[in-house]
Amino acid sequence: MKYKVICGLLMKLLLFSTLLSGAQITDPFNYLGQKKVTVNKGAVVSAHPLASNAGVRILKQGGNAIDAAIVTQLALAVVYPGAGNIGGGGFMVAHLKNGRNITIDYRETAPAKAGRDMYLDKNGNPQLNLSQDGHLACGVPGTVAGLFASMKYAKLPFKKLIQPAIELAEKGFAITASQADDLNELKNEFIQLNTSPPAFVKKTPWKAGDTLIQKDLANTLKRIRDLGAKGFYEGRTANLIVAEMTKGKGIISYQDLKNYKPVERKAIEFDYKSFHIISMPLPSSGGIILQQVLKMIEKRNIGAMKFQSAESVQLLTEAERRAYADRAKYLGDADFVKVPVKVLVSDAYLEARMKDYTAGRAGNSETIKEGIVKESEETTHISIIDAEGNAVAITTTLNGSYGSRTVVSGAGFILNNEMDDFSVKPGVPNMYGAVGSGANAIAPGKRMLSSMTPTIVLKNNHPYLVVGTPGGTTIPTSVIQSLVNMIDYNMKPEDAVNKPKFHHQWLPDEIFTEKDFDAATARRLQEMGYKITIRGEIGRTELIEIKAGKAKPITAIADKRGNDGAEGY
Ligand code: DON
Repeated sequence: MKYKVICGLLMKLLLFSTLLSGAQITDPFNYLGQKKVTVNKGAVVSAHPLASNAGVRILKQGGNAIDAAIVTQLALAVVYPGAGNIGGGGFMVAHLKNGRNITIDYRETAPAKAGRDMYLDKNGNPQLNLSQDGHLACGVPGTVAGLFASMKYAKLPFKKLIQPAIELAEKGFAITASQADDLNELKNEFIQLNTSPPAFVKKTPWKAGDTLIQKDLANTLKRIRDLGAKGFYEGRTANLIVAEMTKGKGIISYQDLKNYKPVERKAIEFDYKSFHIISMPLPSSGGIILQQVLKMIEKRNIGAMKFQSAESVQLLTEAERRAYADRAKYLGDADFVKVPVKVLVSDAYLEARMKDYTAGRAGNSETIKEGIVKESEETTHISIIDAEGNAVAITTTLNGSYGSRTVVSGAGFILNNEMDDFSVKPGVPNMYGAVGSGANAIAPGKRMLSSMTPTIVLKNNHPYLVVGTPGGTTIPTSVIQSLVNMIDYNMKPEDAVNKPKFHHQWLPDEIFTEKDFDAATARRLQEMGYKITIRGEIGRTELIEIKAGKAKPITAIADKRGNDGAEGY
């Protein structure tokens, strides 16, 4: 007995030391991610080293950034089930080597049976457990349709791109310490919210280095490999989703799945100083917030103020307050509601928005509301650059960590809880504290408003930065800070990502800071009249800097805040 325990301990030590040894990733049971790579050809940075590695391997085999994006997303669906997904949705922003900028929207949609008041009880009170947990919280997944929509820009056959994910699901991989903690913490929810225990539930507690095998997921991936998008949206997988819905009072129907359509949309594009920024349009609020905030600060020379001085934090905070107030009032799925985007991002409007800004004195969200328009914890980001000069930024999500925590029985994947990104009732905060209005009310087929901000920055018409992050409503403000850190403060990319972050979103009227945010600045901001609240980590930003404008030299940075990994060659 003693001998067994000692052997077990030795095995653990061995695995742990190999996990820490920095060995090249060839073995999913023995790997360690790198936080920074400096390379010349191509790079992938994502939330999991095994997924980044699968992406770089495909680049080396002649794939382009879009091939790598497909491989990495599919691998994340296996090795990072808390956010990587086939049961969720996402956005892709790409700059192609021919100079075209594209975006693909594969956001989830509300099922046909969804309705504006579906999460209110008979007294009109919101039941947020229903919009956040279990079957009724799920939007119609978009990821698989998005992968196939991006195939038209890829070079290699889909069968090759999905193979690494199939192998990781079938043969398993070693989970990280934080994944073990998550799975242990969520054990009861996984049992309660599922009709049969998923692969994530194990009798004894999970520990770092344990193997996670996902046989049902492997079979679903094989159906997608063999039948294309129909392997998910029709036939056996669709039937399994509908059967799961029936068991748990969910409302996604076979027809909802069959009808799902990804959409190519015109990117949000604008100049900030001498840089050209490309980001995601509605149904994400991300690109609009990015443009509004950067344009509100552009002429105020934040670079001349000290990094995270009270002065610079105040400027960003007040711009954020105004942008998020507009978000709450005006933004929603523009295929369903009229959104005055042109006005909201116009110079005249944004100048007027900052008229009541007073340096040194805190604004107030009771008096500063949306502008006047005169006119009718889980998500993950991938940044990729290839040797040809194609750049891809993708943010994809299940919404909360492990989404609805509902796994489709027999199909092995987690469904999202994206319905909570709708405004379930005007003024009622969602799980990220965001409030909304009629513009983001639930309607059948409508896409819920997002904050995801996959972004590419061009310098002299060549990709210079590829960036994005998870973090709910903190996403746009994290991306903004990373950009300002690079552009205005000339920081090294690892500092631009890893320095403390802060966030303001109009309501609640507080500046949220990470715990290592400068205490003297925080005190100074309090003196100006701001409420400061220290919160947990903000975002997990994945950033690539391409120095010479062409695809070299490249520095890829994985956020220190997670197990994220950068790979390149
Ligand atoms: O689309 C959105 O804005 C949210 N569903 C994103 C959620 C998220 O980033 C969670 N990550 N920590």
